[in-house]
Amino acid sequence: MKSSSGHEGRHYLVVGASSGIGASIALELASLEANITMVARRTEKMLELWQRMAPGSHACYGFDVSRLSEIFALVEKIDAERGAIDGCVYCAGVGAAMRLRGLLPEKLHAVMRVNFYAFVEFVRALARKKRKEQDLRIVALSSLASISSDKYKTAYSASKAAMDAAVRCLSRELASNRVTINSIRPAVVDVERLRGLDELTGGLDAEIKKNGYQPLGIIPPKDIAGMAAWLLSDAARYLTGTSLPFNGGAAC
Ligand SMILES: NC(=O)c1ccc[n+]([C@@H]2O[C@H](COP(=O)([O-])OP(=O)(O)OC[C@H]3O[C@@H](n4cnc5c(N)ncnc54)[C@H](OP(=O)(O)O)[C@@H]3O)[C@@H](O)[C@H]2O)c1
Repeated sequence: MKSSSGHEGRHYLVVGASSGIGASIALELASLEANITMVARRTEKMLELWQRMAPGSHACYGFDVSRLSEIFALVEKIDAERGAIDGCVYCAGVGAAMRLRGLLPEKLHAVMRVNFYAFVEFVRALARKKRKEQDLRIVALSSLASISSDKYKTAYSASKAAMDAAVRCLSRELASNRVTINSIRPAVVDVERLRGLDELTGGLDAEIKKNGYQPLGIIPPKDIAGMAAWLLSDAARYLTGTSLPFNGGAAC
């Protein structure tokens, strides 16, 4: 007899589900028989992904999370159309490398908007819609960059450090309301977006192993999805306010 995953019939919101780690998380959670609501700008990518998902009550909403003032209405709409949300994985993220001379306030603001302000706005909206008798689990995709010191990564690293700070502080406020909130700090994960670097490096996986940056090699997104699924599960119900490293052997 098949054992229960504990996720059957649960309703999870995956923000930033159209590619990379978010897409892998949506696939993984659907394979565990959860119902998935996907959010991102590229609807066509989410529709393609939907075709590959295990059967369930899935849906997607094309939405730009930088439209901060519309996030409450989006969560309201999803709740009304799809029912109460049991968990959210916030994967939306941007972060180009920027030299100091280009680190203008508006450039910093654009990164913070997607990686941090929108995340907090989703948490606010989800906590408000949550039913009293229900648990809510929130998982955020931070990065090892939040605690590392990589050249040109000021905006990205600061946004992820802010996210981790919010996770710690909000966990204290939300615990009595049956909400857990944690983040995952991955090192380099194998996503399409980084494939361009394969040409530059002659193979990113081989390069980061060889140069000692990430001796265990590039992390498959499915492995991150496994950690996200665990954080959403009842097994993690006594864990909140943490940022779990997934380091591939990277030194931090
Ligand atoms: N890959 C890595 O090595 C790595 C390592 C550590 C942490 N992370 C973090 O993991 C998360 C996922 O990254 P990824 O590597 O999987 O990259 P990705 O494939 O580029 O995924 C980013 C996701 O964010 C969504 N997104 C970006 N801006 C958005 C906006 N304004 N509104 C709505 N959605 C938006 C994208 O969807 P649309 O473009 O369709 O809107 C996409 O679904 C990010 O937070 C990233 O910082 C990645």
